[in-house]
Amino acid sequence: MTTAPDSVNTIPRERLPDLLRDMPKAELHIHIEGSLEPELIFALAQRNGVSIPYASVEALRAAYAFTDLQSFLDIYYAGASVLLKEEDFFDMAMAYFRRAAADHVVHAELFFDPQTHTDRGVSFETVIKGLTRASETAQRELGVSSLLIMCFLRHLSEEAAFATLEESLPWRHLFVGVGLDSGERGNPPDKFERVFERCRALGLHVVAHAGEEGPPDYIWDAIELLKVERIDHGVRCLEDPRLVLRLAAARMPLTVCPLSNVKLCVFKTLAEHNLATLMEAGLCVTINSDDPAYFGGYMNQNFVETFEALPQLSARHAYQLALNSFDASFASADDKHRWSKQLDAVFAAG
Ligand code: HPA
Ligand code: ZN
Repeated sequence: MTTAPDSVNTIPRERLPDLLRDMPKAELHIHIEGSLEPELIFALAQRNGVSIPYASVEALRAAYAFTDLQSFLDIYYAGASVLLKEEDFFDMAMAYFRRAAADHVVHAELFFDPQTHTDRGVSFETVIKGLTRASETAQRELGVSSLLIMCFLRHLSEEAAFATLEESLPWRHLFVGVGLDSGERGNPPDKFERVFERCRALGLHVVAHAGEEGPPDYIWDAIELLKVERIDHGVRCLEDPRLVLRLAAARMPLTVCPLSNVKLCVFKTLAEHNLATLMEAGLCVTINSDDPAYFGGYMNQNFVETFEALPQLSARHAYQLALNSFDASFASADDKHRWSKQLDAVFAAG
């Protein structure tokens, strides 16, 4: 694709926060259930007559002090329990799309967790229809393009994943791929080898969370057994130099989520985050928000705070991250080309 315009090299660091905010970008790692803000959780709980074990929005927000992935997932699944009707899924996704548009996100690929809802008696149809209507509305009213990726919960069985895939087939035309999320430790990729093979045969794109909390071996297995096209997180790859070479040679995108990694104690501080090192190693890195309502920020917050914390990052890195996000997306070649031209225009203006 395009290379950075020469002007990128002369842009001073003081210009970075504005450029980071203004540049067009794609978000490739957002769990839509993780965009539920406490205010909306309370509003939907009231609308649906669902009780939640928190007295107020403030009390709920105060519970967002996580020690690891599982401590977050416990609260995240409790938050999702207020989602019952198609309208709830629509409202949740529209709230996200409005935040995304404000951050100059031109394209978003949304993860959704059907099992979190079908296991509570909410139908797959309710979930996918609400999200699809939001996606169409966002394109029409906000100019934000989007695609849906269905995730299997890895703490559940492969049999349950197969049942979910079966249930999804009448709606196959409404999502473009499958992913693998939830608790990583003790739930390696090989548990889902057969269901991913079936998904690939159906022509679905395949991605998986790997190397967030889990070891580099899980990244190897996601590549070799699940044959994924992107690794979600992947930050632990640096522990295995041979893996880094493999990821670089394959230009395997990593959807990195800096604020998430700090909130879930993968890194103690943003200053200790390895994002700049991953880029220096030649990897196709992107920046994403993961679960923005829970982790302290949407896309621009992730970009601005990460660049503030890592002084080695320059305008050239900003340009590369945005370009990588288009390149690594499942959007059409025409769309990718159009967005990269918009990116060039923002950087050419300095
Ligand atoms: N990791 C794994 N599973 C998830 C996450 C995450 O950050 N967010 C929602 N489900
Ligand atoms: Zn995630």
